[in-house]
Amino acid sequence: MSLLTLSEVTRTVIPPDQPALTILSGVDLAIEPGDHVSIVGRSGSGKSTLLNMLGLLDLPTSGEITFDDRPVKAYSAAKRDRLRGAAIGFVFQQFNLLPGRTALENVTMPLLYSTGRTFWRRKRIAAEMLELVGLGHRLSSMPDRLSGGEQQRVAIARSLVRGPRLILADEPTGALDLDTGQSVMELIDEVAVRTGAAQVTITHDPTIARRARRHFRLDRGVLTPVDDPSLEPLTRRDRREMAPDAEPPATTGSRDTDADSDVDARADAALESLGLREPSTAPHGAPPIGTERTES
Ligand SMILES: Nc1ncnc2c1ncn2[C@@H]1O[C@H](COP(=O)(O)OP(=O)(O)OP(=O)(O)O)[C@@H](O)[C@H]1O
Ligand SMILES: [Mg+2]
Repeated sequence: MSLLTLSEVTRTVIPPDQPALTILSGVDLAIEPGDHVSIVGRSGSGKSTLLNMLGLLDLPTSGEITFDDRPVKAYSAAKRDRLRGAAIGFVFQQFNLLPGRTALENVTMPLLYSTGRTFWRRKRIAAEMLELVGLGHRLSSMPDRLSGGEQQRVAIARSLVRGPRLILADEPTGALDLDTGQSVMELIDEVAVRTGAAQVTITHDPTIARRARRHFRLDRGVLTPVDDPSLEPLTRRDRREMAPDAEPPATTGSRDTDADSDVDARADAALESLGLREPSTAPHGAPPIGTERTES
């Protein structure tokens, strides 16, 4: 059983006074529970448009999307909204935290739509989630008092607090330096493994893409599998977005390079500093600490 499938998905828009523009064409993709997929592609290739399809925010012009093997076009907009809220977590480049609300209030927000015990325990659940991302000591901090990496961790806590089955990330490290970006991705991986959630990560950064199990490239709306994103030629923007002192990823050779172990060592160190390095005792598929998964 697939979690989410796209079959022959096309998305066409008709801008005012302009000819129709096909943004996605013939996209086939099946996401299984616990899957980890990366999608790279240059600016304007249709990545965010595709993510909006995966997140049930937009429907395709033609083709079919299924969630839990049921076609989503049969659902009303309200039902799609409920399904999205219960099952999908989004992480964006811009953290989109509510200014003037504390970290705790930001993470509590998605739980306001829950019912019963989860609703009444929402503050405790949100606090435990912030603890899990290493921010237990910043519950009452306002977003503008947090660093970029801390703000992204609050945003991650917010997107994971309902125990989503699918985590969709659009350039999650785009606004972070390399090390912070790696530690943020390590954190998402850790939570996804604990909860059995599937991940789809859109990125310009081959070192981030390489963390996934399956890799795809989007080129002018056409999605194709690639063996290893680090073997793909870097775009000019890829290069620009890498720190000036960063070594570009190896363009040849196996995955077990020194550069790889460097990245792994940095990620390990970051994870240790977040207090998340201990081996997880939660069984695969269990909800994260303190959350109750809503079955849809
Ligand atoms: N509603 C729309 N109307 C007209 N054009 C659109 C619309 N949505 C997207 N586009 C165009 O479709 C193309 C793909 O957009 P999209 O945002 O998916 O690209 P992207 O790959 O995410 O780019 P980036 O890496 O810069 O974020 C772009 O040329 C964009 O201008
Ligand atoms: Mg985009």
